[in-house]
Amino acid sequence: MTNEIKPPLWILLELTHKCPLECSYCYNQLDFTNTKDAMSKTDWFRVMDEARDMGAVQLGISGGEPLLNKDLVEIVEYANNKKFYTNLITSGVGAPKGIVQKLKDAGLKTVQLGIQSHDRNTMTLITNNKNSYDEKIAFAKEVKEAGLQLIINTCITRQNIHQVGEIIEFADELGGNYLEIANIQYYGWALKNINALLPTQEQLDEAKKVTDFYRSKEKAMKVFFVVPDYFADRPKACMNGWGTTFLTINPDGIALPCNTANTLPLEFPNVKDFSIEQIWNESHAFNYFRGDSWMNPTCASCDEKEKDFGGCRCQAFALTGDMNEADPVCSKSDFHHVVTDKVQESLATTDAKIWYRNRKNSLELTT
Ligand code: FES
Repeated sequence: MTNEIKPPLWILLELTHKCPLECSYCYNQLDFTNTKDAMSKTDWFRVMDEARDMGAVQLGISGGEPLLNKDLVEIVEYANNKKFYTNLITSGVGAPKGIVQKLKDAGLKTVQLGIQSHDRNTMTLITNNKNSYDEKIAFAKEVKEAGLQLIINTCITRQNIHQVGEIIEFADELGGNYLEIANIQYYGWALKNINALLPTQEQLDEAKKVTDFYRSKEKAMKVFFVVPDYFADRPKACMNGWGTTFLTINPDGIALPCNTANTLPLEFPNVKDFSIEQIWNESHAFNYFRGDSWMNPTCASCDEKEKDFGGCRCQAFALTGDMNEADPVCSKSDFHHVVTDKVQESLATTDAKIWYRNRKNSLELTT
């Protein structure tokens, strides 16, 4: 495997980890309240300048909930002037009046909106916010009226997997250009809640069948079906390989090769201390999993290592305690039983408490 460093293509700005929703499948760390909003708009501007100079072209803006950042319109405008292709990843909840048109005028290209269900009660159950249904639907309508591209993202768990057919119809009615049926991956809060969230293999197969049936009708809305790790026997090529494509900056200014990398025992640099070029090319953390010299013998000798790069580092660490291990989703991993045991335990559990992602639960779980 080559160690050649190509520039980052896709930058994600996490403007805040505050969020009006409390989804139990959130990938954020359990101690997310420790992440402060430490980046000013000029800090974000400098990050964009430096990333664009290196060749980055895609810019995602997310959170938490990015609509909570008062400088959002200016940040989008700056990105647009730099000729980034901009994507706002949002819950659509708590949106200031008229913001969608302002974002459109600032040059925003795409909105990725989370819609968890066509059904009000299910939406409230999943988000723990009783206003979420009305606010999301109103936001989707504003996006369409403004002429922006609408990507609807539906995170799938045991709570809504039986609704996939209705959700597809609903997304179509809302005018979605794309729908992502995203079977969730189990990180952060989702891993904490796995016993309440994981669906069965049969439910997954049925959801896939329903999705394929819709696709066969060749409608305008494209539907993607993201397969969950826990029912696979080979890992995903997480982030297209560590430090190859993707760079995220969290609200503290910490630069990360994936959204959850700061769960790993590595020291990640802050954009306030280093340039994006220094971080990407020279930092210990971004170089750590490039190439294959870090791999243990299972991955190093595997003829599929160029395909999946040993799988997800965050998942390996979360499930084995060793970030250099093969991703235990892989059936060749010595720890594959951790995944299969978790699946069995989850499916046998019918009364698991749901830990909503909020400050109170965060403090209870981490202090
Ligand atoms: Fe961090 Fe996969 S999510 S490497």
